[in-house]
Amino acid sequence: MPKLIVIAALASSNQVVGNRGKLPWSIPEDLRRFQQLTLHHTVIMGRKTWEFDLEKRPLKHRSLIVVSSGLSESTPGIEVVRSLTDAIKRCQECDRVFIAGGASLYAQALTISEANVPIADQLELTLVDGQYEGDVFFPPFRHLLGTHFELVKVEPRDGYRFETYGRKGRDEG
Ligand SMILES: NC(=O)c1ccc[n+]([C@@H]2O[C@H](COP(=O)([O-])OP(=O)(O)OC[C@H]3O[C@@H](n4cnc5c(N)ncnc54)[C@H](OP(=O)(O)O)[C@@H]3O)[C@@H](O)[C@H]2O)c1
Repeated sequence: MPKLIVIAALASSNQVVGNRGKLPWSIPEDLRRFQQLTLHHTVIMGRKTWEFDLEKRPLKHRSLIVVSSGLSESTPGIEVVRSLTDAIKRCQECDRVFIAGGASLYAQALTISEANVPIADQLELTLVDGQYEGDVFFPPFRHLLGTHFELVKVEPRDGYRFETYGRKGRDEG
């Protein structure tokens, strides 16, 4: 089973993650971190994130899976699946898999499964300081902290910070 890792940047004030299909900020280090963490791994995303954002970024040397009910399965450069469950099924041989948004995929990744644990095993969050307007939001997750996830690492920066959460009681090595 792969480790399922949610990777997201959100405003710490209101958890906004996007505005009109785009990121509400420009943080080059965050984009570099995304590239570094996901390199040589599989990245799962929703159709809107693919079309509005990641399709335009250089995303070589990783497998891309896009969840969509309507996108053609023969879209070049990506594997199209019809649900997050289908996406995860395709990754059974993977070591780690990143769930890269948008809000709808994050919400599904944080739902509690029948085994009473979230679908995601790890959270790689960039918490951005300041006020940002937006139309899509990271799902509520703070109620999962201390119960299902615990803080593993914080890397403060000027204006933002990286926070890594692992499953409570598990070695996240
Ligand atoms: N800050 C960040 O880290 C970050 C990261 C990623 C994205 N974003 C932002 O998030 C926004 C996009 O998020 P979003 O929630 O609007 O869209 P999204 O999650 O990227 O894509 C939604 C689409 O994914 C497909 N989908 C999702 N779940 C599905 C399911 N279970 N079965 C079948 N299809 C499914 C549907 O595509 P069809 O309509 O084709 O069926 C749906 O319309 C953008 O503003 C983007 O910039 C931010």
